[in-house]
Amino acid sequence: MPKTYKRHDKSDIFIHWFNAACWLLLLLTGVGLIQNPAIDPFGSGYPEAMRSMVGGGGNLLLIHEYIGLAWITGFVLYLLVNFRGAAFFLGEVFAVSPARDMGWMLKKMVLMTLGPKALKAVGVDPTLPDQGYYNMGQKAFAQASVVGGIVIAATGVIMLLSDRTFGAESTGLIGWAVAVHFIAVGLVFAGLLVHVYMAAISPEERPGFKSMFTGVVPDGYAKHHHRLWWEKVKTGGE
Ligand code: HEM
Repeated sequence: MPKTYKRHDKSDIFIHWFNAACWLLLLLTGVGLIQNPAIDPFGSGYPEAMRSMVGGGGNLLLIHEYIGLAWITGFVLYLLVNFRGAAFFLGEVFAVSPARDMGWMLKKMVLMTLGPKALKAVGVDPTLPDQGYYNMGQKAFAQASVVGGIVIAATGVIMLLSDRTFGAESTGLIGWAVAVHFIAVGLVFAGLLVHVYMAAISPEERPGFKSMFTGVVPDGYAKHHHRLWWEKVKTGGE
């Protein structure tokens, strides 16, 4: 039996896939709410089809709001069940070692586009600096999705309340909430395209993908991709 290390708890796996499912449903319903010929990402046919499927724009908005509230509730429950796990995740994601991590990020981008020859040509060693529980690419996306997620949830709640309780004096705040909600979704979505490619399509990350179901990664993968974490766990440190 090959040696494996625990990477994710059951509650971590649940919250990850719950979050991914909410994101998918929120994107599908949210894009359907945009009915402006100048900016419709999929043309006017998509919002019309979504609205007629659920009996009108009002119902589509309600569905979007309910999914958003379920998304926020899911995270509150996760924090209650596994606060330690969430604290560990945030600690790993926001701990950046500038020299090591920026070096990793720059080299990784050149390696993935131009290859190792481009680095050697300018006298740079193509070996990537060792990384911890997450590499800098994962950390950058996780930082964007944590900060973006909080901004999206907060602006979503402001818009939800604006329909029900706020008066005309809040129009400026609501205008900002709408704009910031769109910008945050756009930024996280851009990172999500790279995340899904790296996590689900790139063959070298396949053991990481499997770990989002099984919770464990093989020894060789941990050693090669997350050397600093591997050094800790192999001695039973974490
Ligand atoms: C089809 C959709 C998705 C797939 C296949 C996927 C896959 C994965 C995998 C395999 C990991 C584990 C990486 C590791 O342990 O090293 C992971 C981690 C993570 N995922 Fe996803 N994910 C998806 C959607 C999402 C969405 C929608 C978000 C948030 C907007 C998200 C946020 C994260 C974060 C923050 C992490 C931890 C940091 C990282 O590894 O980048 N994921 N994902």
